[in-house]
Amino acid sequence: MILKVSILSLLFTKLSLINGLENGLARTPPMGWMSWAAFMCEIDCEKRPHECISERLYVTMADQMVKDGFRDAGYTSVHIDDCWMEKQRDSKEKLVADRARFPSGIRKLAQMMHDRNLKLGIYEDYGSATCAGYPGSKGYVETDAKTFEEWDTDYLKFDGCNVDVTEVIDGFKSMKRALSKRTKKMVYSCEWPLYLRVNNHTDWINYTDIAENCNMWRNFDDVYPSWSSILAIIDFYVENQDELAKAQGPGAWNDPDMILVGNESLTYEMAKSQMSIWCIWSAPLLISVDLRILKAEYREILLNRKAIAIDQDPMGKFGKMVQKDGDVRVFLKTIHPIDPLTNETSYAIAVFNKNPKQEKYHQFTLASLGIKSSLGKLKVEEIWSKKVLGIVEIDATIQVKTNPAGTLLFTANIVKNLENYIS
Ligand SMILES: *[C@@H]1O[C@H](CO)[C@@H](O)[C@H](O)[C@H]1NC(C)=O
Ligand SMILES: *[C@@H]1O[C@H](CO)[C@@H](O)[C@H](O)[C@H]1NC(C)=O
Ligand SMILES: *[C@@H]1O[C@H](CO)[C@@H](O)[C@H](O)[C@H]1NC(C)=O
Ligand SMILES: *[C@@H]1O[C@H](CO)[C@@H](O)[C@H](O)[C@H]1NC(C)=O
Repeated sequence: MILKVSILSLLFTKLSLINGLENGLARTPPMGWMSWAAFMCEIDCEKRPHECISERLYVTMADQMVKDGFRDAGYTSVHIDDCWMEKQRDSKEKLVADRARFPSGIRKLAQMMHDRNLKLGIYEDYGSATCAGYPGSKGYVETDAKTFEEWDTDYLKFDGCNVDVTEVIDGFKSMKRALSKRTKKMVYSCEWPLYLRVNNHTDWINYTDIAENCNMWRNFDDVYPSWSSILAIIDFYVENQDELAKAQGPGAWNDPDMILVGNESLTYEMAKSQMSIWCIWSAPLLISVDLRILKAEYREILLNRKAIAIDQDPMGKFGKMVQKDGDVRVFLKTIHPIDPLTNETSYAIAVFNKNPKQEKYHQFTLASLGIKSSLGKLKVEEIWSKKVLGIVEIDATIQVKTNPAGTLLFTANIVKNLENYIS
């Protein structure tokens, strides 16, 4: 017991070094369902009544999340994206949800989510208009923050379309200030570094500043359902991994964008790869797929408790690529349990094959990845196949075969005095 307490206080000291947005939220990466990649800006409810952005869609997905075990696995929020508004503010300059598609209004929708033990995320944009041309927050930041509080939403995704590059930083900061004045605390998701990057101003990206203002932030292009999109995101994050790893910690997350597991354009192996690498990064897990038609094998990927535990590890580390061999990349992340006597951590290891056409073989030792162990061994398991390799010496060769575009995801856990460990 005493050991546990001292380790907890040790973790606390370490974590508090990261100066995240101090609203106490998003201590682990947010998990939920978001409409964008699956339904985008479908607003034609006459032609597509079951796919259009509407109150009905969000309630249906919420019910599906509860029924299929997503909520109980940790996916606890439902996120509205663009295209939910009327084209005009009301006479008091407040935003209004589309009256036909959201007949009960957002406040009622938030309540319906809360009744289901779920949270509701809302979407706005700092610019003169959102990406799809709905009213933006420019000139209305305080009004909009107040409106979201009145509606009792739990999370704000704030976009950066139609913003002059010189106003990106001040714009995202102004909404942070407006939200902090409200009593209701909301997770604040920014697109600040993304819009500096696409406007050729990476030189203005300061992650210390971003992490002090936002709970999470998009760094790179939108994900779309294709292998090239997933690969481009992985390449970008690997290229910038040292900087991104430093920026991240509880309350402050890099956001590589939505999880597309289950979309028909990604194979089963591709889907496992996206889930594996996002978990290695401690990325937010915002699923964007039509849950009503999700096949069981994809649902199992999303609901895999061990993968989720890697993602949600309380240290919130951004795991890095530590080995490269042709098309194979090996990623390493420190996770719990931790040995209270030596401070040695356990690890998650992803062996990723970027080649969508060929299987690849790779061999490595735990030591070659940079893993240290005073006992010289760890307990290794592959979590998708549930294959337990057993106790593995850190100098022993592990040989693996990865399927085309596939990933093996291992945990390598410390092995002694298990009852003392924080898990
Ligand atoms: C950024 O630079 C690229 C390459 O020079 C150029 O093609 C692109 O138009 C620039 N974007 C903006 C918004 O200036
Ligand atoms: C980045 O932002 C932090 C926090 O606002 C500030 O202290 C630091 O000086 C900035 N760094 C640069 C290089 O501007
Ligand atoms: C896959 O993505 C496409 C394009 O965004 C979308 O039209 C389709 O509905 C998605 N499929 C599922 C199962 O969500
Ligand atoms: C474990 O970490 C604590 C706090 O940093 C340190 O005081 C202690 O010496 C460490 N123990 C070992 C065995 O490294």
